[in-house]
Amino acid sequence: MIETPDDEYPREESAATKDSIRRFEVDLEAERTRIARELHDTVGADLAASVALFKYYFENPQARGSREEVLRNILEMLGITLKNLRALLQSLRSSDVGRIGLVSDLSDMAKAYRRFHDLDVLLEVNGSEEELTHRQRETVFQVVREALSNVRRHSECSTCMIKCSFDEKPFLIEVTDWGVGFIGENPDGFGLIGMRERAAGIGGRLSLDSVPARGTRVLLYGPEPTDTLTQPAQQT
Ligand SMILES: Nc1ncnc2c1ncn2[C@@H]1O[C@H](COP(=O)(O)OP(=O)(O)O)[C@@H](O)[C@H]1O
Ligand SMILES: [Mg+2]
Repeated sequence: MIETPDDEYPREESAATKDSIRRFEVDLEAERTRIARELHDTVGADLAASVALFKYYFENPQARGSREEVLRNILEMLGITLKNLRALLQSLRSSDVGRIGLVSDLSDMAKAYRRFHDLDVLLEVNGSEEELTHRQRETVFQVVREALSNVRRHSECSTCMIKCSFDEKPFLIEVTDWGVGFIGENPDGFGLIGMRERAAGIGGRLSLDSVPARGTRVLLYGPEPTDTLTQPAQQT
């Protein structure tokens, strides 16, 4: 039998090589999850919104006057979708949300929901967003965006409320609806998983409070403040 070089020298991967391959695989998996989440939260949510508007258009043939407006809204939504997709492809990094102002971004989001979906989104703000880092503001925006998309798609409720308590320690963001509620979590849903991951990413946590026929509340807590006075004294 002719021995190949490989047989002659059985390839033993060093522990360091195995370790770096494992780390590469973990990074790759994390990146895949991130891309899936970005696609779900941006392009997926916008396309779902356009589909909802098309559905309204075809289910309401009698509403002559408003139908043209619905078509115009669909066109506008698709324009936004395209913009979001381009931004995603260009960077595949987190977007610029929160740079101009988180509260003003949330207020724009609330207005868009009122305009395009007849979903009345109330916004209450206590304290100043200045307390938050840029990354925290970005996370708040992304979590609220997914929570509102869920209210629109699943709650069957026409009113909801975003409450930002920047003055709490840790800060607290609540998105509440008074709709159908739900039990458990849909394992196929990237939205809830993504919200939890985003909260964990800033050292905070996400809590869900949903009661069938009563409604749903999503709570995003910021990171626990570190109290320097209670830290053990450093050993010298
Ligand atoms: N505000 C809500 N009201 C009612 N049901 C909800 C709400 N938010 C989430 N859900 C339920 O949780 C499921 C999972 O949500 P999510 O992970 O965001 O995935 P998706 O929105 O893509 O279905 C939804 O399919 C729905 O059944
Ligand atoms: Mg969702």
